Amino acid sequence: MGNPTQNPETPQNTTTRPRISFLGCGYLGITNAICFAELGYEVIGYDVDAAKIEAFSSGTLPIHEPGLPELLKKNLESGRLRFTTDIQTVADFADVHFICVGTPQRQGEHSADLSYIEAAVTDLSRHLSRKCLIVGKSTVPVGTASWVQELVDRHAPEGLGVEVGWSPEFLQESNAMHDVLRPNRIVYAAQSEWASKLLRDVHKGILELAAVEDREVPIVETDLATAELVKVAANAFLSTKISFINAMADLCEVTGGDVTDLARAIGYDARIGNKFLRAGIGFGGGCLPKDIRALTARAGELGVGESFRFLGEVDQLNSRRRSHTVRAVADLVGRPSGPAGPNLSGLRVAYLGATFKPDTDDIRDSPALAIARKLRQARADVVVYDPEGIENAKAAAPELSFVKTLPEAVAEADVVCAMVPWEEFRTLDPEALGRQVAERRILDGMNAFDPEQWSAHGWDYRGIGR
Ligand code: UGA
Repeated sequence: MGNPTQNPETPQNTTTRPRISFLGCGYLGITNAICFAELGYEVIGYDVDAAKIEAFSSGTLPIHEPGLPELLKKNLESGRLRFTTDIQTVADFADVHFICVGTPQRQGEHSADLSYIEAAVTDLSRHLSRKCLIVGKSTVPVGTASWVQELVDRHAPEGLGVEVGWSPEFLQESNAMHDVLRPNRIVYAAQSEWASKLLRDVHKGILELAAVEDREVPIVETDLATAELVKVAANAFLSTKISFINAMADLCEVTGGDVTDLARAIGYDARIGNKFLRAGIGFGGGCLPKDIRALTARAGELGVGESFRFLGEVDQLNSRRRSHTVRAVADLVGRPSGPAGPNLSGLRVAYLGATFKPDTDDIRDSPALAIARKLRQARADVVVYDPEGIENAKAAAPELSFVKTLPEAVAEADVVCAMVPWEEFRTLDPEALGRQVAERRILDGMNAFDPEQWSAHGWDYRGIGR
């Protein structure tokens, strides 16, 4: 991953740089705000959460995201980046307003909750006093952009001609800074030549950085509906890939195959590609699970639900990974499941990993944490260690025990469950670890270890689909 703080050549020609605001400083908003300031734009980040804004303003980033804290400080110092809870300041400041608020899954339903978008857009519109562009970045059901334009038309002062555009975002947590500064594509939709030009100017900094680094960034300019759909299509495709390889893992398990070899072998076919083919405990996070549900729900509303029935199965297959993994642990320790699930009473489990993936402290819809809780429900004594996720995990799952170091977690363990491929876990040494545990038994939920190597050191090894 490139580090822009070590990149003095980040071009900062500000002559045609529109002033930008980011409404909603969650993962998406804060990363974009910081990175666009780094690219030379004058940026303001807005959020209704005063504590968050205060933290950002004083250079504190309350999330774990590699490289971002340094860039926050640097750009606060440059004077190009500031934060506010005052919507009037935002409305007066920016030429382009990016909407980055959350669109969580509605309580008890599969569809997306658009209330934060409605609140942000309505509030902003009421405070505008000049023509500007409002661009949606949040992940939304198709049709939202047109509704946002209606909201703007209803609430902005008459005659300003405020327009709505859309530009989906593909950043991955743990690689967020890189994904914003060096995206593999830019997608946007504008409703007029004026808006199109403004969006070109907004993305100019990214293209200039690419030119300095001798890279190309393809641009797809399209209509509003397509821009909205691109995002959910990408996440649905990635989810399907993961569930597909997990289905193959099940088949490997009953036939003696090895899903990691299988994934490698099919991945060499460029039409398939080798990314997102890591079988394991399933996908989680704040995006993939909710986005496939929202897409299915929206397709149903639009009368094409049948075409998306498979996504329901992608979701189900993913959820089943959790009970499947609990059964795998039970089998490994010789306590096969009865009708009420396994009884793991008295079993000391060293549980490595709580976040939804490595290099983040995010535990939203984390498969690892969900499985830890299931093991606890089966009465196991689960001791969890995670390099960055302990505080968040503790708040969400207080019934589990948490420790601050790996040696504390594995001491006297009857079984080690290595669930999230943090570097610290992937590089574990079987012999050294073996000296710390009570029993050499390992469930490799990351499929990161060489089974033969671990077996050679006396471990009873079990992976997923191998
Ligand atoms: C995902 C997309 O990858 C981003 O492109 C998108 O912008 C983002 O959602 C979003 O909608 O905002 P993210 O949620 O950060 O990004 O996480 P991913 O890296 O996609 O991983 C999602 C889950 O899939 C994790 O639980 C991960 O462990 C799992 N996964 C990933 C697998 O189980 N196998 C794989 O081969 C890859």
